[in-house]
Amino acid sequence: MTEQQQYSKGLAGIQVAESDICTVGVKGVGLNYRGYDIKDLAAYSTFEEVAFLLIYGSLPSQNELSNYKRLLSSFRDIPGGLKDILERIPSSAHPMDVLRTGCSVLGTMEPEVNPQQDQYRIANRLIASFGSMLLYWYHWTQSGKRISTVTSPDDSTATHFLKLLRLDGKEPSGLHVKAVDVSLILYAEHDLAASSFGARVTASTLTDFYSCICTAIGTLRGPLHGGANEAAMILLSKFPNTASAESGILEMLKKKELIMGFGHRVYRNGDPRNPIIKEWSKKLSQEGGNPTLFAVSQVVEDIVFREKKMHPNLDFYSASTYNQIGIPTNFFTPIFVISRTTGWAAHIIEQRSNNKLIRPSAIYTGPEPRPYVPIIERS
Ligand code: ACO
Repeated sequence: MTEQQQYSKGLAGIQVAESDICTVGVKGVGLNYRGYDIKDLAAYSTFEEVAFLLIYGSLPSQNELSNYKRLLSSFRDIPGGLKDILERIPSSAHPMDVLRTGCSVLGTMEPEVNPQQDQYRIANRLIASFGSMLLYWYHWTQSGKRISTVTSPDDSTATHFLKLLRLDGKEPSGLHVKAVDVSLILYAEHDLAASSFGARVTASTLTDFYSCICTAIGTLRGPLHGGANEAAMILLSKFPNTASAESGILEMLKKKELIMGFGHRVYRNGDPRNPIIKEWSKKLSQEGGNPTLFAVSQVVEDIVFREKKMHPNLDFYSASTYNQIGIPTNFFTPIFVISRTTGWAAHIIEQRSNNKLIRPSAIYTGPEPRPYVPIIERS
């Protein structure tokens, strides 16, 4: 095999693009968005600043940030035709399918005509309105309520989401808003994770922006990728206390079952996002949340490390964080969508700016050439 024909199952360790968006686990550790350490972004910035950074390439000035927040706010409402279609999606549908459908429908109503101009508008439109689509569908199918998808123009993405979720007219607590905002920062970008790679493959055919995002949502949905935060919560819910968690996890490891929210393709010494989200989960548990859930999560972490030397990834403590805020479990991965649309947008824009069709090849392992057998002669 020549160097060009290298094969690696799952493309592990193969570099397939040049990118100036993000570094993941250089030398096994760390995460930077456009050169900024995730620890600093999580501690000092907001999701809107990070979205601007990823999409436009630099952190915004105060003026740029105010304008950007105003722009997002103007994009929160969704067209009546989209609401009609959301109302027809069954209440039993998975919310990820609702977002994939919503994205596709919006693409028919507000299509991309001139990619160079429209791609930024569509990226921001989707970031601003995915929460609206999800919660419009949710309240209609759960209680027959047609909600207004607009909240105050000053609301951040996190506040908008929590207000539409609860609909009690109250301001969500600062603690809850900050926890969701930090999680949106942590989920925003991760180099060529499967969904971003999927978006780039789709973009490389020069198709429209919405098609790229539909690909990415479908890819994120799987439990080996974004669906792991939902799967981690389902697992944690099985353990009412630390003792049952210990015996349950040992049993799963004995049966060689996957523990969702653990392991990572790139980080071998731990996910740098984990200590940040874990701290939020702990803080919530100490301030009116669920201390048992946090204790159970800690036991799961301890046992998996003791038995397998594996660390939690971002999805593991995101589960207990979102649960303690009162977010339904099947909304966990859709929140990931709202956030990662920023990273996907950055990848689509970058792919388009220096495009080459992504078209690898497979090592053929099928039959040797053989003569065609007419149907009447086949046994
Ligand atoms: N639980 C138990 N065993 C595991 C886990 C896990 N979570 N993850 C890996 N292993 C085991 C594998 O079974 C394999 O064992 P083996 O060598 O005996 O067959 C070994 O560790 C190596 O694992 P791979 O699957 O080769 O690692 P890979 O890099 O391909 O997979 C992945 C990474 C998909 C994240 C994997 O760790 C996994 O399935 N984790 C659970 C799902 C998850 O949390 N996904 C979220 C990813 S991060 C994100 O999207 C924000």
